Amino acid sequence: MSGDGPARHLVLVGLMGAGKSTVGRRCAKRLDRPFVDTDELVEQLAGVSVAECFTLLGEAGFRELEQQAVADACASPEPLVIACGGGAVLDGSNRRRLHDAGFVVWLQAPPEVLAERVGGGEDRPLLAGGSTPITTLERLAVIREAAYEAAADAVVDTAGRSIDDVAHAVLAEYRP
Ligand code: S3P
Repeated sequence: MSGDGPARHLVLVGLMGAGKSTVGRRCAKRLDRPFVDTDELVEQLAGVSVAECFTLLGEAGFRELEQQAVADACASPEPLVIACGGGAVLDGSNRRRLHDAGFVVWLQAPPEVLAERVGGGEDRPLLAGGSTPITTLERLAVIREAAYEAAADAVVDTAGRSIDDVAHAVLAEYRP
């Protein structure tokens, strides 16, 4: 804890396959605090899976629920570890909220490493189109780099590292 107020949330951002949920759970365990995943919050709000949400409401509908999920998580008086869906930081109001209420760590890896981790990407609607996951991830990496950079208080490279190692590096960066 630092300063006068409660500890800031630890927030993980980055592309699909960066390890936000896996590493986030590990960090939450180490910090002995709750873990929340904005995709899971969206699923609770929508009552359907992320994939079904895209089908039923379109990406725009999903993003509206994601905005609500980010706001709900940030508003928690108890410090959390928050894993954000890969596209959450594209929205300026999400970035501001996360930055104000949390310490944001950008988990990075090259697209080929991300592609290996996501496999066929069956449960990720943005990877379900005509292109291969690696092509889509390469494209998203370019389009989103500025948003991740704007959101991040710190950057951690995850390529070739174990979950434990990455969690350790994230916690070393974290300024509550
Ligand atoms: C998305 C990433 C997904 C999920 C949705 C859209 C994105 O979350 O929010 O499929 O825009 O990058 P993960 O990053 O946890 O896979």
